[in-house]
Amino acid sequence: MNNMDKIVNLCKQYGFVFPGSEIYDGFANTWDFGPVGVELKNNIKKAWWKRFVQEDKNTYGVDAAILMNPKVWEASGHVSSFSDPKMDCKKCKQRFRADNLIEEYSNGTVAAEGMTNEEMEKYISDNNIKCPNCGGTNWSEIKQFKLMFETSRGTVEGNKDTVYLRPETCQGEYVNYVNVLRTSRTKVPFAIAQIGKSFRNEITPGNFLFRTIEFEQMELQKFCHEKDGMNFFNDYKKRALDFIIDLGLDKDKLRYHDHDKLAHYAKAACDIQYKFPIGWEELNGIHHRGTWDLSRHGEFSGKKLEYQDPDTNEKYIPNVIEYSIGADRLTLAILCEAYEVEKLDNDTREVMHFNPSIAPYKVAVLPLVKKYHKEKADEIYDLLSSEFMCTYDETGSIGKRYRRQDVIGTPFCITVDDDTLNNNTVTIRDRDTMNQITLDIKDAILYVKEKIEFR
Ligand code: GAP
Repeated sequence: MNNMDKIVNLCKQYGFVFPGSEIYDGFANTWDFGPVGVELKNNIKKAWWKRFVQEDKNTYGVDAAILMNPKVWEASGHVSSFSDPKMDCKKCKQRFRADNLIEEYSNGTVAAEGMTNEEMEKYISDNNIKCPNCGGTNWSEIKQFKLMFETSRGTVEGNKDTVYLRPETCQGEYVNYVNVLRTSRTKVPFAIAQIGKSFRNEITPGNFLFRTIEFEQMELQKFCHEKDGMNFFNDYKKRALDFIIDLGLDKDKLRYHDHDKLAHYAKAACDIQYKFPIGWEELNGIHHRGTWDLSRHGEFSGKKLEYQDPDTNEKYIPNVIEYSIGADRLTLAILCEAYEVEKLDNDTREVMHFNPSIAPYKVAVLPLVKKYHKEKADEIYDLLSSEFMCTYDETGSIGKRYRRQDVIGTPFCITVDDDTLNNNTVTIRDRDTMNQITLDIKDAILYVKEKIEFR
């Protein structure tokens, strides 16, 4: 079993992530976060918000509607060109992205991104590229496959308008640029951030949470003067990398991937890639988008999106620097990084070495002997759970209970024993070192609080 399969099984077994609609035999490429997983993902989102919104006095949050006026998607270019080149294998009927087939075949040495459909068809035929599923070479012609999910709005049958499930959250930030500027009484440069669901009818979803059809994005748009654009671009490149290292990703498994080919309006683009068990893949993107977004929305809405600098009176359309990261993809990277099967003297243990600030539960409260220590343990649970997320376990040997906490990444286990009854002290066991210390219960709270802060 490869590492990704182990992670998928572990997630299912311990309540991180379940297959979507499982009792109906599932629904491909949808996943439900369970009790442990939802805590982990929420903590990751909170850490992002703390770092990029709370601690940055010129960044403002929004929570925009998923369904937007369809003109938004005309202005953004999604209606006309948000599609991938699909090809069907006529033998096994599986569907593939032609650009992916070429990139995989050439080991990334041929960039299919800039090729026309005819050029891709010729390359695939000249090189006799085989279907990864059945080995066949009888391919359909390439067709553009639309990636936006469509639905309709309207109460009268036959009189319905097409609307789209948003494929990215950032358009909710662009359309609120003037609202946020006005109500926050701020000046350019400033940023708008948002966390929310996006939907894409991906041709080849897969690899667990890596590519799904419904996912959460954490996106931030910095609105700035053209002269400051490259500085902010480089600044977000650095801050984006620092953030994921601070969350616990190994810096040797991270690298920048600067784009050679840019969209016609873009001035610079860079991904940060992480070495997933499936190989080096994009984790997040930083893009210098010039004035494209605000110019297009100005044009399509007929509204003035020009900014007038109150100090110099200069009028201009701000440039946009975008920083975008998938919350689910980052959760997957964190799960892969944290997982270890650790060899002990006469044993092994599965352990998730999460940074304590994002661990699902901060503390597990364990009465040593249920019969004698439960009442006090309940009291301590109530005390601690008003401060941070806790869990409670009274069944099985203490060793087994430690292992159960190790595998869900609980950084501290607090054991309640006779000493707790007699003099209010508890034993705190550290997940990573497995060392134990004894503290007064009040000091134990301070000890844990200090260690779980995200900085
Ligand atoms: N607004 C820019 C934008 O959406 P993107 O590169 O298409 O750019 C940004 O997406 C991030 O969203 C990616 O780096 C990735 O982390 C995440 N993402 C994109 N498509 C995804 C999918 N199908 N499943 C999970 N995460 C996805």
